[in-house]
Amino acid sequence: MSTHASTHAEEDVAASISAEPAVADLRTAPAAPDADRAVASRTRTFDNPRLRKAFADQGAFLYLEDFLAPEVTAQLVHSARALLDEVNRNYLPGHKQGGSVSRHTIDRLAPFIAELYRSQELIGWLEQLSGDKLQVSPADDPHAYALYYYTRPGDHIGWHYDTSYYDGRRYTLLLGVIDESSCRLDYELHTRNPDVPDEPGSVQIPPGGLVFFDGDKLRHRITPAGPNEMRVSLTFEYVTDPNMRPWRRLISNMKDAIAYFGFRQVFRQMTQAKTRGKDRA
Ligand SMILES: [Fe+2]
Repeated sequence: MSTHASTHAEEDVAASISAEPAVADLRTAPAAPDADRAVASRTRTFDNPRLRKAFADQGAFLYLEDFLAPEVTAQLVHSARALLDEVNRNYLPGHKQGGSVSRHTIDRLAPFIAELYRSQELIGWLEQLSGDKLQVSPADDPHAYALYYYTRPGDHIGWHYDTSYYDGRRYTLLLGVIDESSCRLDYELHTRNPDVPDEPGSVQIPPGGLVFFDGDKLRHRITPAGPNEMRVSLTFEYVTDPNMRPWRRLISNMKDAIAYFGFRQVFRQMTQAKTRGKDRA
């Protein structure tokens, strides 16, 4: 990992606001739909055995251009714009540039997203697709649900895997929220399977679209944004075993602090989560 990483949370947010579209007012949010009902209204119309086969055939990867119910997409679009002044900008020269809003901010200001993340209908459907029993990520994992912003020229993320630092598998669900951009999700299937040739692909994820994959199996990147473009995606992370060994926990936290959310956010929240854990014990 580069040692030239820098995070400039407050300064960059302040600098970015003036250049961004008008920030929506959280108080004028459309009424939040019932997450379970909205998910079920879509998933019951799908040919789920066919989707499950497609997921398996593509080495634990699926893209659906039209997944979310329109009222859910509308809610997410509103939240993404309303949270613009909460965006934490990060740079890792040569690897990534962009902004993010962590679960901790979402919990405070956009609780519908947290409800959608925990929707039993959504989790049950993802379990059908993956064939795995899925759990939500632990309270101190800032990736559990997060919004990612590509709002300045050059915002991107280079080729990587969503490596699991947990004892079990880590699945990523990517939901398209705003796409007024030329950014693409480029990917390569089967790179970890020596028996199947690598298969490249590339998609743009429209609002309401979905990508679901096993983080250790899909090599992927987001190509750089151009001038006056804006892309926001929502990422949910689910795990099959939330246990993490202490050394991996340290590596994971350092990576999050440098590459995504900033030291204050990651380590303060980690300490608070621990304290809450002790209070309960
Ligand atoms: Fe990723």
